[in-house]
Amino acid sequence: MFERLETAPSDPILGLTEAFNHDPRPDKINLGVGVYKDENGKTPIMASVKKAEAELLKRETTKNYLGMAGLPELGVCVQKLVFGSDHPIIAAKRACSAQTPGGTGGLRVAGDFIKTRLPSTKIWVSQPTWPNHNGIFKAAGLEVGTYPYYDAAGKGLDFSGMIKALEQVAAGEAVLFHASCHNPSGVDPTAEQWEQLAELAARKKWLPLVDFAYQGLGDGLEEDAVGVRALAARVPEMLIVSSFSKNFGLYNERIGALTVVAADPAAANKAFGHIKIVIRTIYSNPPAHGAGIVTTVLQDTALNKLWVDEVAAMRNRINGMRHLFVDTLKTKGVRQDFDFITNQRGMFSFSGLNDEQVQTLRDKYGIYIVGGGRINVAGMTTSNMDRLCTAIAEVLAG
Ligand code: LMR
Repeated sequence: MFERLETAPSDPILGLTEAFNHDPRPDKINLGVGVYKDENGKTPIMASVKKAEAELLKRETTKNYLGMAGLPELGVCVQKLVFGSDHPIIAAKRACSAQTPGGTGGLRVAGDFIKTRLPSTKIWVSQPTWPNHNGIFKAAGLEVGTYPYYDAAGKGLDFSGMIKALEQVAAGEAVLFHASCHNPSGVDPTAEQWEQLAELAARKKWLPLVDFAYQGLGDGLEEDAVGVRALAARVPEMLIVSSFSKNFGLYNERIGALTVVAADPAAANKAFGHIKIVIRTIYSNPPAHGAGIVTTVLQDTALNKLWVDEVAAMRNRINGMRHLFVDTLKTKGVRQDFDFITNQRGMFSFSGLNDEQVQTLRDKYGIYIVGGGRINVAGMTTSNMDRLCTAIAEVLAG
């Protein structure tokens, strides 16, 4: 049976990492997968994380199972991070949070919950979106529709196209938003646009599902929550998926959370009961280590401050690279306008490079970029910038 299977396609992002790892060229550059690199091109363990791990090692007394929803203290920390400490949703106990294996795990649990427990089985995602969104929701059995998002000509948000399409979404259908640092475009709605989207969500009664994978890497931990908080202020029910892969650098610990918000505590608990059953039937209960780290950091005043500073340092380095990239391209004689890259936020930008140029960069120069032209700005350093921009200038010159 197995030999008759068709060859599986390579994953557009993780498949690229595999190809990069097999590339023997010493000066290769990986701007594919969304992983943060420091100035030395390394993905370090954050100091706050290391300290929390030392703490955990001392404190830990058992490897007993966590509950289906993971560490309860994590849920409290996640809600404070997402909504802000004194938010009425927290005070009113309208939210419940489950620890999940990364953001991806949270999205899959959300997808299964929508498909199997709610009346509508359609979800709308931005065009474009992170390719795995389509895979996850289709695997959950949902029908996936798209709404316009990125205006390729204007290199910004197609807000009117987005609103027009979302006006047509039926009540009860789910709509996926990226809370900040839109993946792959780096283009986010403004605070005013989020208000309009929240008003529309409430009026049309669709179910917002917010993917919050990059909190703190755009404009700040609080600033990046503007959209999710605008929605939470208006809609009675929503789902939020947090990831701590990027802002804690905990990529391989697989730590995230799914938060369900309901109109009152009884409805929140009801929904949460179903979410726990969904979890039980996929992976039973989550692994403990990542949750222990995140909770230890967020609960300890000194560690929390250290972490906030470390997130700011990552954010500032990424934004610094955006400017250096645009300036260096100019010094290489590139005449196309790349200034839009400095207005975008988070790890990613659409470079505007076409698939042929992306392929040439990979084949000829060992520079890896995701098909469609998405670049991981967090993979740029002052040491690889010159080589990168020389290569791009040559490719653009044809
Ligand atoms: C990315 O978009 O590169 C990251 O979210 C990593 C992944 O799992 O695709």
